[in-house]
Amino acid sequence: MSLALTGGLRPAPAQAGPAELALATKFACMSCHSQTQKLVGPSFDAIAAKYGGDNPKAVDALVTVIQKGSSGVWGPVPMPANPQVSEADARTLATWILSQK
Ligand code: HEC
Repeated sequence: MSLALTGGLRPAPAQAGPAELALATKFACMSCHSQTQKLVGPSFDAIAAKYGGDNPKAVDALVTVIQKGSSGVWGPVPMPANPQVSEADARTLATWILSQK
């Protein structure tokens, strides 16, 4: 029996988090980033604290970082470019990262 065919049984997530986390996991962001701890790259809550929660310019800047990479902002380790991430997905990820606390 397929759950997908039973219609409406699967509850929508209460918050947007899990879908975006799945996207970040799919693109391997989570191998270098954690939501709360510094790994290879800065934690997402540290990035949100630095650029502010609801800042459209920061979203644009992070879309560029996610697609093109970054170096020298947080330390000596550069972030590689992610040309496989579409602009729409990069925007979803940037908005999500900036909303973390
Ligand atoms: C190979 C490890 C690695 C991967 C994979 C990676 N990052 Fe990063 N990321 C870093 C490092 C290191 C930095 C800090 C770069 C710097 O100091 O400029 C960083 C910085 C960032 C920043 C902050 C940039 C800034 O200018 O302050 C964001 C946002 C970010 N990463 C998001 C992502 C997202 C989203 C993904 C997945 C598409 C991802 N990263 C994948 C290592 C990684």
